[in-house]
Amino acid sequence: MLTPVHLQYVSSQLSWTLTSDKEQITQASYQVQFSCSDTFDKLLWDSQTVSDMSSVCVPYGGPPLPPGEEICWRVRVIDNAGEESGWSETAQFINGLAPGDWQARFITPDTDEDAAQSAGKLLRRTFSLDGEVARAIVYVTALGLYELHINGVRVGEDLLTPGWTEYNKRLLHQSYDVTPLLRKGDNAVGAMLGAGWYKGDLAGWIGRRNIYGRHTALLMQMTVRLTDGREVCVFSDADWRCSDGPVLYAELYHGESYDARLARAGWNTADYDDVGWTPVRVMEHTTDTVTPQDGPTVRRQEVLPVQSLICTPAGENVLDFGQNIAGWVRFRVNGQAGQRVVLRHAEVLDRDGLFYTANMRSARNEIVYTLKGDGEEVFEPHFTFQGFRYVQVVEFPQTIEPEQFEAVVIHSAMERTGWFSCSDERLNQLHHNILWGLKGNFVDVCTDCPQRDERLGWTGDAQVFARTATYLMDTRIFFQKWLRDLRAAQYENGGVPFVVPDVLSGQFPPGDVISNADPVTGWGDAAVINPWTVYVAYGDKGLLAECYESMKAWVEYIRTLATDGLLWNTGFQLGDWVALDAKEGSYYGATATDLIATAYYAHVTRLLSRAAHVLGNEEDASHYAALRTDIGAAYADEFFSRTGRLVSPTQTAHILSLAFDLTPEAFKPRIVKDLLSLLDASNGHLTTGFLGTPYFCQVLADNGCLREAYELLLKDDYPSWLYQITKGATTVWEHWDGIKPDGSMWSADMNSFNHYAYGSVGEFLYRVIAGIDTDPEQVGYRKLVIRPRPGGGLTHASAAVMTPYGRAESSWRIDGSEHFRLNVTVPHNTTAAVTLPDGAQHVVGSGRYDFTCTLSH
Ligand code: BGC
Repeated sequence: MLTPVHLQYVSSQLSWTLTSDKEQITQASYQVQFSCSDTFDKLLWDSQTVSDMSSVCVPYGGPPLPPGEEICWRVRVIDNAGEESGWSETAQFINGLAPGDWQARFITPDTDEDAAQSAGKLLRRTFSLDGEVARAIVYVTALGLYELHINGVRVGEDLLTPGWTEYNKRLLHQSYDVTPLLRKGDNAVGAMLGAGWYKGDLAGWIGRRNIYGRHTALLMQMTVRLTDGREVCVFSDADWRCSDGPVLYAELYHGESYDARLARAGWNTADYDDVGWTPVRVMEHTTDTVTPQDGPTVRRQEVLPVQSLICTPAGENVLDFGQNIAGWVRFRVNGQAGQRVVLRHAEVLDRDGLFYTANMRSARNEIVYTLKGDGEEVFEPHFTFQGFRYVQVVEFPQTIEPEQFEAVVIHSAMERTGWFSCSDERLNQLHHNILWGLKGNFVDVCTDCPQRDERLGWTGDAQVFARTATYLMDTRIFFQKWLRDLRAAQYENGGVPFVVPDVLSGQFPPGDVISNADPVTGWGDAAVINPWTVYVAYGDKGLLAECYESMKAWVEYIRTLATDGLLWNTGFQLGDWVALDAKEGSYYGATATDLIATAYYAHVTRLLSRAAHVLGNEEDASHYAALRTDIGAAYADEFFSRTGRLVSPTQTAHILSLAFDLTPEAFKPRIVKDLLSLLDASNGHLTTGFLGTPYFCQVLADNGCLREAYELLLKDDYPSWLYQITKGATTVWEHWDGIKPDGSMWSADMNSFNHYAYGSVGEFLYRVIAGIDTDPEQVGYRKLVIRPRPGGGLTHASAAVMTPYGRAESSWRIDGSEHFRLNVTVPHNTTAAVTLPDGAQHVVGSGRYDFTCTLSH
């Protein structure tokens, strides 16, 4: 049976996948229908039958969709054997409001003094409906964070809404169908507001707060259609009333203090008596920046039980959840009014087994709950989250029972798309840690870390991890949202800030490790690398087109900085950040920064040229191809001796020269040999930082050194990826020596145990070990490349990737010493080019296949 499933509408592009019990299936034609009703009696658009294979990122071709409406769409297809599918299940989404559609006003419960406070405030109003409700949709956002309630029920499952964007230019609103929550007669709507990213503490080490504004505010508009056809609108306006509530204090970094005795029972229902509540203040604030949610929202994803209850040598009671996460603790407690629960959070215990929080810097990560004392009370915080594995129970009114606590894992709601396993458990743990690095750091914005007073969208980290992220989860719209913020934050001259959203520009105090300098290589390059990576992994040409001018502006900006427009040897650089070849106590790796900067400049110029070609802009394509050639020639002149020695004798210099195709052909053997010598000189260990590490194994594998790539990957003594695993890591560390071999720690001023940058090696597990990739010309896995490269003594490895076309699998096993067996699954509407380790090649259509060959040693 042929069925289109998994319908996705993203920014006027449609995707679906085909399921069928047959093999060798391609799509011959499709038909798409859009309507405002699930009966499809009145159509907004009917594509009619289109003879075309496209099933991924198909442009929507109808008239603009009506704002604010619930949109239904469906698709049916005919395959290459002539089989017709029925209509797919109907997919639905709410098309958010356009800026001009807002009649609601921003309303604030805050007084002037509240700018310095971080309490949660309550707002409410009642309204009456004199008819049965046919349909109700609410559109809502806030300055700060909000939780919306209707008639006593929390609306939706989204957390930390409206999320974090470049607020001055883009504030997202969410839309919910709330039909079941309303009723004929009296109704109430209530909201709780918190400080969040908008006005709370950010970039704690430079002590910023009120970055976007001094007061929290709500913007809400609800359209209720009654069964008799009348429409009622409820807005945030001067008729609302407000009050303090039980959230005494909530800050993203510092935690939450909640006094349950101050909870206003029934505050979000119509019967509640709000005497004593005061009128809200209508706030002048534009709605021009308010735009519909365009990324995944943050949600509760998993719940983890306590693994063990530890009493440390200092007598601290510590819960171990067995996994470093981002989220919070939910607990149940019984006690008397006024008694307290106090929790602190940590990622690791120190070498003496003590609770260790020094690396959180100023982030307090503390939960204080005061009981109201009437039976069992259940609590989880509202406007904060923590990065932790261990929780110290500082105060608790009862004997601590592990069952009373659970860890709630939160992150942006994305579907998992990558699975990997092999015969080496340490590598499986590494994969696990990389995946959890993503989970812990894709909390609305791709952050460096989720625990200390930082948690910022560092562009360099996001850039090096992007391809790995696209293997692990469906990050397409996550990056869409973040790239829109990147573009909003981009300076007029094309420069890209260190972090997006940008809360750092011009903020570094004198003497800070980072100067107030212009944008830097490896970080600003996210403007080009991330949209390109999304295009490669998902075939999203729409996003590439959206980002094109921004990509170009970044390259043009570098051109103005570069000497003769070719060698970027000016200004401050972060370089090969935290590489081990740095001077004692320094963060800056030893690789010459002009070499790194020029290498990246060449790399992104090539990607820009390719993007121009994909978008049909051949003039730019050849212009930037020529520029790339010139940069390459200048690079060779400047950084290679006449006989092919690289001026910067570091691993990273050699890696980048090979990875970005900057090594003249004649010098390649020498550069590869020199890289191996450098590796030898450090006893087979890496000394690379953020910019060299991601490409290390890949470069070795692609240059005839597969054995050495595996040796490097499988090292488990310090420093190496697996060293962390021998130290019990459950996520990827910021530093190779976060915990040193003697058990002491790297300096607490910068020592995160959940930093995904070095997890960028995940790509190697999928692309080289299991051998799954997209064809570079037929991106988004339109054509698959299956090319496993076994080694490292592994006896089997398998990976599955949920591509935009469906599930692709590559699974191999070595029987005896040399019999190699490969099982491959190719999704419908694609083909795969399979290359076996003996060099044999096969091109196959959708289906499951077994291949065998003999391995030569
Ligand atoms: C962050 C890094 C970031 C770096 C750049 C650090 O504080 O945690 O991941 O890329 O600064 O300077």
